[in-house]
Amino acid sequence: PEVISVQDLASRMSERSVDVIKALMKLGIMATANQTIDADTAELVVDELGHKARRVAASDVEIGLGGEEEDAPEDLVPRAPVVAVMGHVDHGKTSLLDALRKSDVVSGEAGGITQHIGAYQVKLASGEMITFLDTPGHEAFTAMRMRGAQVTDIVILVVAADDSVMPQTIEAIKHAKAAEVPIIVAINKCDKPAADPSKVRQELLQHEIFVEDMGGDVLDVEVSAKTGAGLDKLQEAILLQAELLELKANPNRSAHGTVVEAKLETGRGMVGTVLVNRGTLHVGDFFVMGPAMGKVRALLDYRGQNVEEAGPSVPVEVLGIQGTPTAGDDFVVTETESQAKEIASYRQRLDKDKKVTATARGTIEQMFSAI
Ligand code: GTP
Ligand code: MG
Repeated sequence: PEVISVQDLASRMSERSVDVIKALMKLGIMATANQTIDADTAELVVDELGHKARRVAASDVEIGLGGEEEDAPEDLVPRAPVVAVMGHVDHGKTSLLDALRKSDVVSGEAGGITQHIGAYQVKLASGEMITFLDTPGHEAFTAMRMRGAQVTDIVILVVAADDSVMPQTIEAIKHAKAAEVPIIVAINKCDKPAADPSKVRQELLQHEIFVEDMGGDVLDVEVSAKTGAGLDKLQEAILLQAELLELKANPNRSAHGTVVEAKLETGRGMVGTVLVNRGTLHVGDFFVMGPAMGKVRALLDYRGQNVEEAGPSVPVEVLGIQGTPTAGDDFVVTETESQAKEIASYRQRLDKDKKVTATARGTIEQMFSAI
């Protein structure tokens, strides 16, 4: 299938159309700027002109982002596990995270610390770090899940012991399974008189979550965010699961990440929370963030403090965004500003085309139904 016009291909690479036409001629293909070529040919041209091509689908090819090469094993170093806390409304996800944060030796006892972002790190007394993502508003999380499993290493499934398995519990299980992310079950609110942890285990069976007590291998912990009971065991379970995953990344490359959250703030402009997957992000880097782009003006860590850089598994707020990214968008550092601009404007055009097509289709359908 013919997928991209010569002109578009040129603009995606920040090359002149005439140079793309010349490269095509070398391959024995005569084409004009308005003609379309297939993905295979596009890839050859991209190579020929010294850019990097990446297949995003069988029929599409993303160009110029680079950084898709695999890392050599010797470049990989251990990184902190990224843990998403999921579950039904009011089952205590945020409370549990608040309680876990108390064991953060960095923020100490200070309960008044403003949580700037929905993602933060906890440094345990043992020196180990865990990155946590709260999942308020499921939309953001669904988008992230759709972007693949890179973002989350482990899902903590919070189930209130007095309410047991509920619709969003089941939804969370499906998300985690689809992304092939291991689940740790946290049976919360065990301090309540109505708590029935064994009922929770029983009901989870129906959704193919086999906890250890039931002869399976899913770790489960009885906890209470209110009293703090079982939190040490939950931490142990996370570290144990993380160890099994042997999580590693190369910090010595340009940063790749995922947008966890993006919002317009008075006085600060568009603020994006990014979780770095690999590489190291620096102040001053040019980047593409979904259809947005920019130059990193400042980086703030989960405590709201300015930092110069952020490595793998580190969540940071990024200032200096031009445009409107969405949770779940990819975040890629580019070599040059013009590269970032090209990719962003190309994506904006694609988005616009999609909207136009959708509207046109709507109109035609309306026309037919009117007949
Ligand atoms: P959403 O983000 O809206 O989905 O809710 P959530 O899962 O984050 O629940 P949240 O932490 O806001 O807690 C909901 C309610 O349950 C609050 O009133 C908490 O105080 C209460 N709660 C949370 N954990 C416990 C617990 O372990 N024991 C008791 N007794 N109450 C708890
Ligand atoms: Mg919450």
